[in-house]
Formats: sequence, C-alpha cells, structure tokens
Amino acid sequence: MKIGFLTSGGDCQALNAAMRGTAKYLYEKERNKVEFYGFLDGYKGLIRGNYKKMKIDDFEDILNLGGSVIGNSRTPFKLINEPDEEGRDKVKSMIDTYKKTGLDCLVVAGGNGSHKTANLLFEKGLNVVTLPKTIDNDLEGIDVSFGFQSAIDVATDYIDKLQSTAKSHGRVFVVEVMGHKTGWLTLHAGIASNSDIILIPEIPYDINAVVKDIEEKEKRGKKYIIIAAAEGIISKEESLLTKKELKKKRKEGGNLIAAERLARELEPYVDKEIRTASIGHIQRGGNPCAYDRVLATRLGVMAGELIENKKYGYMATFVDNKISSVPLSDVAGKTKMVNIDNQLVLQAKKLGICLGE
Ligand code: F6P
Repeated sequence: MKIGFLTSGGDCQALNAAMRGTAKYLYEKERNKVEFYGFLDGYKGLIRGNYKKMKIDDFEDILNLGGSVIGNSRTPFKLINEPDEEGRDKVKSMIDTYKKTGLDCLVVAGGNGSHKTANLLFEKGLNVVTLPKTIDNDLEGIDVSFGFQSAIDVATDYIDKLQSTAKSHGRVFVVEVMGHKTGWLTLHAGIASNSDIILIPEIPYDINAVVKDIEEKEKRGKKYIIIAAAEGIISKEESLLTKKELKKKRKEGGNLIAAERLARELEPYVDKEIRTASIGHIQRGGNPCAYDRVLATRLGVMAGELIENKKYGYMATFVDNKISSVPLSDVAGKTKMVNIDNQLVLQAKKLGICLGE
C-alpha cells in the first residue's frame, strides 16, 4: 500500500502529530506492506512530483515538533482551478504524479482552501482523505481543528504579558489576533486572557460603544484596558460598504493593520495613552500543546481507518467530543463563522466583556 502525505496552506501546530497518527496506525496494520511518500511544500510537491520517501522511523519522534517536516505552501484553489490551460495543467500534473507514484491514497492536511482542492482531486477520481488543520478553527464540519488550542495558548500568554505593562502605565492596549475572517481565536484567547473588550469580524463594532465601555470601566476604577481585536474586524459603517468601496477606504487610510486602524479611531475620544501590538505568526509557531497532540493523533488514526475501509473523499472530524468523519463535498469551501448567539459570545457579554455593540 502506498500512502502520500501533504500539508497545505498556512502551517499550524500538530501537523506532524496528525501524519504520525495515520502512519503509525497503518504501519501497525500493514507492517512492511505500507510505503509512505511525503510531498514537499503542499500541493506544489504534487504538481511538480517532488516527494521524499518516508520510513516509519521518520514519524517516530515528530509528535511534538512544530511546523511540518514536509513543508507547507499556499497554492490557492483559484490558481489550481483556473479555467485556462495553466490551471488545467496543474490539475493534470497532480493526477499524473499520483498515478506515476502508484498511490493508493493521498492524505491532505489543510484548511479551507486546501479542502476545496482535495475535493476537486477526489471528484477527478483520486483516493483522498483529509485532516482538518487550522489555527483559525473556521472549517465547517468540526468543532475543533488541530492547531487551534496551541494558538489560543500562545495568544493568551502574549496578552497575559501585556496585562502587566498596560497596568503599570495605565494604558489602553489594542492587541491584534489572527483568525482570518473569523473570530474564534480572538474570542477564546480574549476570554482566557481577561481582555476587557473583544472584537470579532462577525460582529461589526460600533466605535461609540467601544468608547462608552472604556469610559464605564474607567469610572468603575479600571486603570487600564485590553482590547483583543481580530485581524478581520470591521466597523459598523464599513460593514455597509461594498467590497470595492471598503478596499478604497482602507487604501486611502494607508492599509493599516486592524489594531492600528482601531487605535486611530479611538485616539480622539480616549484620554489614556494607546498602544498597539500584533501577535502575528508566533500564534502558528512552536510545539503543539498537549491537547493538540492528542487531537491530531486521534484525527490521524481516523484518517488511517478511512483508508483501511477504503472510505475515500472524507475528512476526519471532531464533533461533540467524538472523532468521526464527514464527506468532503459537505464541507469543502465552507467557512464556519462565530454565530452571534454562540454560547461563548453570550457568556462573554454576561461577564461584562464588550463585544463592540
Ligand atoms: O489561516 C491561518 C492564518 O494564520 C490566518 O490566521 C492568517 O490570516 C493567515 O494565515 C496568514 O497567512 P500568511 O502566513 O500567508 O501570512
């Protein structure tokens, strides 16, 4: 049996743990009858036929390693699925590599875009199973993706550290958290780090509500304020603009990062010093936390079971505390947003955390 692996899109913690889970599961079943191929740098490796053969030993000590031992890249679905010749060539090259290598199945660890490509390859007749990775936790069909909890831990630790300096100086700190177009990471890290205000893309913020909340908290004696702001936040006014108008407005404003934009909006109304910080890629870096090691291992085992049962075209999932699987066609290309009536959102409000409304 020949099994290919690739890790696509932005990296995250526990990619290696997930591949290890699948490899070890299949090795225990098949012993010397299973061969592993690691395609280098995501779909690029499949397009160009770049891979390294891997032995079970190569998976043994990678459980706690960050990044991916076979490399990542973003190969946007748009580029792969272009209706022109170049796009068709890329798909053809991937199918050719798969066939030339004689794979029985390709295991793709990826986020939203990567799942679209995985589904496309499955529809073209390749045996594919997938592993849900992303620090953004925005994949449809799962409660928690691996990488998410490690990123929450990093962001929480970062904001914890800002708390003490913000307190000493009595400042307002706007901290930018990753998460692409969703607020899962900001919501969780914001609550875990005792942030006063949490702003997420799903709830366009009203600057007056944010200012009012800062004033109220000051009146109550709070000497400093921490605002956890997702990178994708949008103001109420901006949410009424078309995509084109918004792009123009942001360009005219110097294409600032979200934290800077918000700080500038707040400046005229807040008499405290305002500082900004952006956590950035360390949220995806370093070793996976124990929770992610276990989750990714379990999802990896599920991918192994799917392969064993020839159940192709499925993503391994974690829903209601159980590992299971879902057809790729049900989830590929769908983004899971935070609902405004999400229990955690409602509980945050009950704790007096301002969500910008
Ligand atoms: O999807 C993971 C993520 O870290 C997002 O949170 C962020 O918007 C994006 O990737 C950053 O991408 P890049 O690594 O390409 O800068």
